[in-house]
Amino acid sequence: MTRAATLIPGDGIGPEITAATLQVLDALGMRFDWDEQYGGMTAVDKAGTPLPNATLDSIRRTHLCLKGPLTTPVGGGYRSVNVTLRQEFDLYANVRPTKTIVPGGRFQHVDLVIVRENTEGMYVGLDHTFRIGGERRAMAQAMSIITRAGSERVCRYAFEYAKAHGRKKVTIVHKANILKATSGLFLDTGKRVAEAYAGTIACDDKIVDNTAMQLVIRPDQFDVIVTTNLFGDILSDLAAGLVGGLGLAPGANIGTAAAIFEAVHGSAPDIAGQGIANPSAQMLAAAMMLDHVGEGQAGNRLRGAVETAIVKDNVRTKDLGGSATTAEFARAVAHRA
Ligand code: NAI
Ligand code: MG
Repeated sequence: MTRAATLIPGDGIGPEITAATLQVLDALGMRFDWDEQYGGMTAVDKAGTPLPNATLDSIRRTHLCLKGPLTTPVGGGYRSVNVTLRQEFDLYANVRPTKTIVPGGRFQHVDLVIVRENTEGMYVGLDHTFRIGGERRAMAQAMSIITRAGSERVCRYAFEYAKAHGRKKVTIVHKANILKATSGLFLDTGKRVAEAYAGTIACDDKIVDNTAMQLVIRPDQFDVIVTTNLFGDILSDLAAGLVGGLGLAPGANIGTAAAIFEAVHGSAPDIAGQGIANPSAQMLAAAMMLDHVGEGQAGNRLRGAVETAIVKDNVRTKDLGGSATTAEFARAVAHRA
């Protein structure tokens, strides 16, 4: 039986990297019954709204989605569809692995996973401007919400992930020295969760600014990091930069009602339509989706094929210093799958 899944090709480079990914899944013999839907800019153009009901209904039905990047207007405009999807489907854990693939870079032994809380913190949408007395007196306020329950489930997810993937340590990243209430609650909850894993999974904690520096200086000291929404967003891009950039960084949004798999990067409007985007991140996201549905062997084969195409076959897109097109890279991975 083929499994039903929602497919959102997305905006910008989304359709290019999604087509490449489908080609490779096909070569692996992994069939999904894809229900293709729109989101983001593409959906505004086609349906007049960035997140059509048909897209939500599809995910409600399949509980499983492979998603391309969606463009979000900066400053004004509609609310991020990604953030809405995370809240709608309660996708509380954003899992972003970072591993050295390309040899010759600055860091050869990076192998860490960031688990980012995905529904609370600075992303709750309580961000507003006060209209009092004109431009010069402009004032804006954002609110961060942290709950014991929200912190507990994502920390527990991080420890369970560590256990399931043979990892040794979870680092709780916070700013509890300054944000004593919000970040303090997250840290306290994380430490309580850690007690249940004492003797199995080690636990330490680090302040976020120090973490940023430590990630750049000695990334191999990290194993699993669990942190709040905004810190996780920033640190996972940083981590991606350590190992060759966003073109290699996949992510999973795991929730109680669904799971959505996507690349960490955005729609890359600067290179959209040129056929030169690196589809690896989207392919690696598809590999995480295979793990999630119990096809871990196929997931491993897909990860291996991406690595072999890059390292052994030396087929690389421009972001990795090569000259391969998206389609050429997809063929190389399909050949190795
Ligand atoms: P971006 O990730 O789209 O691009 C940043 C830089 O990385 C650009 O120079 C781009 O060319 C390059 N890049 C990204 N992915 C690449 C790939 N696969 N291959 C080669 N080069 C790649 O970030 P940016 O420019 O800040 O955002 C563009 C749009 O994407 C915005 O509207 C933003 O809101 C949206 N976005 C959507 C996300 C999602 O749907 N999950 C995540 C992040 C941003
Ligand atoms: Mg981000």
